[in-house]
Amino acid sequence: MSDTHKKILLAAYPNGMPRESDFRLEESPLPTPGADEFLARALYLSVDPFLRMLMNPSSEANAASRTEGPITDVGRVMAGGFLGEVVESNNAKYPRGAIVEGILGWQNYAVSNGWVNKRHNPGGVVVCETGLDVPVSLFASVLGRAGLTPYFCMTRELKPQAGETAVITSAAGAGGSIAGQIAKRVGCHVVGVCGSDEKVDWITSELGFDVGINYKTTPDIAAALRDACPRGVDVHYDNVGGPIMEAIAALHTPTHRYRLVGIASSYNTVPEGQSHWSWPYEKPMFVVHDYTKEYADGIREMAGWIKDGTLKYREDIVEGIENTPKAFIGVLTGDNIGKRLVKVAD
Ligand SMILES: NC(=O)c1ccc[n+]([C@@H]2O[C@H](COP(=O)([O-])OP(=O)(O)OC[C@H]3O[C@@H](n4cnc5c(N)ncnc54)[C@H](OP(=O)(O)O)[C@@H]3O)[C@@H](O)[C@H]2O)c1
Repeated sequence: MSDTHKKILLAAYPNGMPRESDFRLEESPLPTPGADEFLARALYLSVDPFLRMLMNPSSEANAASRTEGPITDVGRVMAGGFLGEVVESNNAKYPRGAIVEGILGWQNYAVSNGWVNKRHNPGGVVVCETGLDVPVSLFASVLGRAGLTPYFCMTRELKPQAGETAVITSAAGAGGSIAGQIAKRVGCHVVGVCGSDEKVDWITSELGFDVGINYKTTPDIAAALRDACPRGVDVHYDNVGGPIMEAIAALHTPTHRYRLVGIASSYNTVPEGQSHWSWPYEKPMFVVHDYTKEYADGIREMAGWIKDGTLKYREDIVEGIENTPKAFIGVLTGDNIGKRLVKVAD
């Protein structure tokens, strides 16, 4: 192979919002898999908001969440989702030609034995079920953790019912756009909160949300939510936390269900590991990894919905590994509609 190994390294701990200068692209000869290892060539890399917390230095505050040591660190490959094809293998579980997905980092090739970053990838590297006959990128987007999160949170925990009101934040993002459609398919009145008119238009005119609220231009969010949810809020799928969460919580019905799924409003300020403890609200935190053993069931059911046209998704593709830091910063600032991925190779 004439290719080189391209890796995005963390160059510096960010202060607040990351900058492109906090990352560095490094090239070296291709690695060789050892005993029990395989070499995979990246097709898509995933840029996810939670990676921001992994970019903080290790400290006492986040030690509990770094039991295996820092997952990424200055001078090391940035952690991140990797969807690729096995091109060399000394491991029968990952044969040549298999499409694999795992948190193998922002790089165009990765060597692994399948067990990396058990905290954020407890099932290890997964061999994707390509027989489902869906575009391969879906295993990094709607059929990856980004889509499995709303699938399991909605179907197993929040359990929306016909006639209830469901409110979704970051509603035009990877997870929120799926969460709202799952509430809609069981007959909820669905309200989405998101950060642009284009996003509001997408979730209401294409995804079937009943109401969209642009929190960046709506002067009185509390009043807009009251108008949108006259019977109160039964199901609250919270991707962002902060003042928007408080405004929605004020409308909770006595039988409401709430899950804190993400803290998009605070990733740049809350150190990893403190997010669960410093939150000023009693919150059941959703963790998608609790459902690792059921991932295959969720993937099959959602693939069926995609194929019968009842679940829509959008992939927001940025081309080229060198653009990965910019693509990631864009997710933190709300540039993306649907799941943002970086395409590295065909
Ligand atoms: N608990 C779990 O197991 C689990 C698993 C996967 C993901 N997550 C979390 O779920 C959340 C959604 O993930 P995703 O991959 O679907 O990301 P996403 O929603 O596609 O992208 C993040 C979005 O956050 C919004 N945002 C950024 N700053 C904000 C702010 N200050 N206030 C409100 N919204 C803000 C932006 O949209 P706007 O334009 O609308 O602002 C941005 O597009 C993330 O917090 C992620 O970490 C949790």
